[in-house]
Amino acid sequence: MLTWIMWPLETPAPPAPPVVPTIERPGEPVQPLPHTTPDNPRKVALGRRLFNEPRLSGDDTLSCASCHDLKGGGADPRPQSAGFGGKAVPLNAPTVFNSRFNHRQYWDARAGNLAGQTISTVMNPEVMGASWPAVIGKLEDDAGYRREFAALYPGEGIDATTVADAIAAYEDTLTTPDSPFDRWLRGETGALTEEARRGYRRFKELGCIACHQGVNLGGNMMAGLGVMGDFFADRGRTPAEADLGRFNVTKRAEDRHLFKVPGLRNVARTAPYFHDGSVATLEDAVDLMARYQLGATLAPGDRKSIVAFLKSLDGSLPE
Ligand code: HEC
Ligand code: HEC
Repeated sequence: MLTWIMWPLETPAPPAPPVVPTIERPGEPVQPLPHTTPDNPRKVALGRRLFNEPRLSGDDTLSCASCHDLKGGGADPRPQSAGFGGKAVPLNAPTVFNSRFNHRQYWDARAGNLAGQTISTVMNPEVMGASWPAVIGKLEDDAGYRREFAALYPGEGIDATTVADAIAAYEDTLTTPDSPFDRWLRGETGALTEEARRGYRRFKELGCIACHQGVNLGGNMMAGLGVMGDFFADRGRTPAEADLGRFNVTKRAEDRHLFKVPGLRNVARTAPYFHDGSVATLEDAVDLMARYQLGATLAPGDRKSIVAFLKSLDGSLPE
């Protein structure tokens, strides 16, 4: 039997970001994305350069931006990214937009925060295939980086922690506020179409909200994929190691196929869907969720309304 796990897991989640969302519609289980201003623009600029820096990979070909398309949804439009040496990474790349509001990072929630995510992904032989000493050596050879790190991290300079800190500062700015849904949450009654408002109501009534909740409509708990049916048997492809989800971290039987509930912001821009990238359209993702997570078959009208609601979660992309 698959379980749900509410946060915190065994490791405490990082402290909440220092921003207070305004809630104009009290009692809603979703909060609008707050407007934030970076407190250190110079660090953000350094982080942005590092996010786009191929020297963070073992063979100088891949940057973070290679798999997280910031002009699209911040995710990878390919079901599986091409990782180090061109080999397919076994999981679909989630979006980096609004990732600061997730309580933990990765499908199996193994990283406690954004800096920890960067430290592990650079060394991951399937993803960037680098070693930190080699990366630091390459950045040390660049006078521009030496100057910026010396100014921003006096006494520390360039190391895994400071590189990851600068990238996390940049990622903190990758938020997408002011979606029609957020404007509606803040009280702008005309911001949502009637169809989308109906979709939000059905999203709550059907119980999607039990898992997709909070600022990101997800990212704050884990759930088994296939609570009400065997997704993996029906998918037809032999389950791979990556399909085991949280089990790969804990080795506990009850954690098999447990995944971090993904946030749904900008979800219309982040196809394909699910941890395995196996679902091509939002309509199919909604149907499969109803079937496997809630044991429900959606009426066509419900699917259409819920998709309209999900499309209303498109916010303004950072420039
Ligand atoms: C080769 C493609 C690739 C590259 C390069 C890459 N990523 Fe990812 N990223 C992924 C995949 C795939 C996942 C999901 C992996 C998992 O869950 O185990 C992921 C997950 C993430 C997450 C977690 C999001 C969430 O909701 O859990 C963040 C944040 C992230 N990447 C940021 C970065 C940063 C920063 C870099 C550069 C240091 C980077 N990525 C480089 C493919 C890539
Ligand atoms: C029991 C918890 C739970 C419920 C209830 C639930 N979801 Fe999900 N949802 C998840 C999990 C876990 C995933 C990730 C599954 C995976 O990747 O394998 C997910 C994934 C999704 C995705 C794909 C997101 C992406 O980026 O890949 C969409 C869209 C979605 N859910 C919408 C819905 C809708 C609509 C409903 C209600 C009809 C719903 N969910 C009900 C837990 C839930």
